[in-house]
Amino acid sequence: MYHNPVMVKEVLNMLNVLNKRNGLFVDCTVGAGGHGGAILANLGERGRYIGIDQDNEILAVAKSSINDERAMFYFANFTGLKDVLEECGYTKADGILFDLGVSMYQLKNHTRGFSFESTQRLDMRMDTNGKELSAWDVVNCLSEEEIVRILRDFGQETRAKLIGRLILQRRKDNPINTCLELSELIVKAYGGRWTKRHPATKSFQAIRIYVNRELEVLQEALDSALGVLNTGGRLCVISYHSLEDRIVKHSLRQKNMDGQIALLTKKPLCADENEVRENPSARSAKLRGGQKI
Ligand SMILES: C[S@@+](CC[C@H](N)C(=O)[O-])C[C@H]1O[C@@H](n2cnc3c(N)ncnc32)[C@H](O)[C@@H]1O
Repeated sequence: MYHNPVMVKEVLNMLNVLNKRNGLFVDCTVGAGGHGGAILANLGERGRYIGIDQDNEILAVAKSSINDERAMFYFANFTGLKDVLEECGYTKADGILFDLGVSMYQLKNHTRGFSFESTQRLDMRMDTNGKELSAWDVVNCLSEEEIVRILRDFGQETRAKLIGRLILQRRKDNPINTCLELSELIVKAYGGRWTKRHPATKSFQAIRIYVNRELEVLQEALDSALGVLNTGGRLCVISYHSLEDRIVKHSLRQKNMDGQIALLTKKPLCADENEVRENPSARSAKLRGGQKI
């Protein structure tokens, strides 16, 4: 398995797949297709699934592992959800899923420059076709102030200033080319000591969010998702860090106050102990949802 999908049972329940077996479900973050496969396994003959991802490589993995006539796959940013639906001949869906962030496939695939152990060039672009700005550009071309701001705003990194200074000192002599070079520098800012999480975790998260504009596109996509849901249709979002979760929480609350959706979760659902034991990346997952009124 390339990626263990999180909270599959909860997602299927929240999407209400079993009561809409001939409905249309859109998976905005198909990844390696774990949730997609589970949705399709519960759909009827006339049910349809559209899987979207902005990473062509992982989309190819999902396509070949799912291989189902009821499924369609689209290489796109999920902000283009409405256009994708139209291209597939639809205007409305019965359920829409966002499982945010990156997949294990991307993190473990060292050629993509996401992982702090990788000796490959810093990259972190999910969409390598259109996007020009990579993690290498962030680290080697932006000003110290800008780097510090990114580490603080998108990684809540308390040592952002020190890391920013070390990056600037180091790149005066030579560019910082690989993921490992950057993570070793961050380890230095932590005096070589850490307990649970690797010290580079927050900075890598921050740079990835900046490179892929993850927070900006999320707000836009949640708004457009509501526009293409049928009445009674369900919107489900899994987030993995507090910055994402805050946007999802506020957006669903606002739509609820505007009378557009009923909240399906007052508090987010989290993975149970067993799941976390088997799949540690489920630890930070938070599932929220709403039903269009
Ligand atoms: C956590 S993984 C999804 C895993 C998937 N649910 C599974 O079961 O295998 C997130 C996926 O969303 C994709 N992604 C993230 N942001 C995106 C965006 N703005 N538009 C389209 N795809 C996006 C990533 O490329 C990645 O493949």
